[in-house]
Amino acid sequence: MEENKKVIFSGIKPSGDLTLGNYLGAIKNWVKLQDDYECYFSVMNLHAITVRQEPKDLRRRTLEILAIYIASGIDPEKNTLFIQSHVPAHSEASWLLTCNTYMGELSRMTQYKDKSKNMGDSSIGAGLFNYPILMAADILLYNTDLVPVGTDQKQHLEIARDIAERFNRLYSQTFTIPDAYIPPAGAKIMDLQDSSKKMSKSEENPNGYILIMDPPEVIKKKISRAVTDSLGVVNYSDDQPGVKNLINILSAITNLSPEEIVKKYEGKGYAEFKSDVAEAIINELEPVQNKIQELMENKSYLEEIYRKGAEKANYVSMKTLRKMQKKIGLIPR
Ligand code: TYM
Repeated sequence: MEENKKVIFSGIKPSGDLTLGNYLGAIKNWVKLQDDYECYFSVMNLHAITVRQEPKDLRRRTLEILAIYIASGIDPEKNTLFIQSHVPAHSEASWLLTCNTYMGELSRMTQYKDKSKNMGDSSIGAGLFNYPILMAADILLYNTDLVPVGTDQKQHLEIARDIAERFNRLYSQTFTIPDAYIPPAGAKIMDLQDSSKKMSKSEENPNGYILIMDPPEVIKKKISRAVTDSLGVVNYSDDQPGVKNLINILSAITNLSPEEIVKKYEGKGYAEFKSDVAEAIINELEPVQNKIQELMENKSYLEEIYRKGAEKANYVSMKTLRKMQKKIGLIPR
């Protein structure tokens, strides 16, 4: 029964080309969850503009993310796929929640602190500061039960829960309190050159990340250059963070546990291990890449999907927005 399914909401912002981290930490799990939940997967273009974007890149990436969702196996017939800016309730709910959120709690967000640490007060956009409120609006408008994300988004989920609980307390039960769903493998893929940092699309050194669109020879090169250590044994240990990261990548792709992987490479060196990791990534991404290219040549199909998605998302989110407006004391039109 459709109606009884729990609700999932998640999304990715088109602020750079997507990495293997986005794929393994988010998209690959959405594909696994889509049959058991009512799912909304959105392209978060309003979040992307919290930092300056080149308009034509933003347009291209927005469609590309939609294509990536579909190419990775998210069924556009069963799930609601839409572009955030097509659903005005997100911006409106965000304002209503802004008036119920405190500077103190926003200042504690580590993502905000990281992103703003090298900027002066006069160059930090207010959007960057308010970012988590818009994210809370995204999630709460759909009465979301579960938000599948990588570890880096956990804190944003916590503030969304706090905002929802506060609203419920002040204005009576309105929102479902959402839970984060962090996948067992792949939740935090690290930079290939610096294992203390997460793999990120905004990283400057391209050897640190693998892009979903990287061709096979580039993937091979980046994995063979990935920083490891001088121990020469494939072990799943914090003392070998580079190797641990490669094991996590292989585990997220193959569904083998880290222990099974360690066993498989007993007595073998890094060369063979790395070459298998590269091959696994290539085998995983190649069919997705081909499908993305096909979809990007069929803009009218993508348009059909995002229009249909926006219609459904508009309908559901407007219901929640009206409820919020009424409870706050805004006169309905
Ligand atoms: P974004 O666009 O930075 O990342 C999208 C998703 O990819 C995951 N991710 C990773 N997972 C594992 N290892 C990595 N190295 C890695 N890098 C990124 C992220 O955890 C995320 O799940 N604020 C969100 C976008 C957003 C959103 C939402 C998400 C806006 N509204 C509502 C869920 C629900 C973000 O910036 O994700």
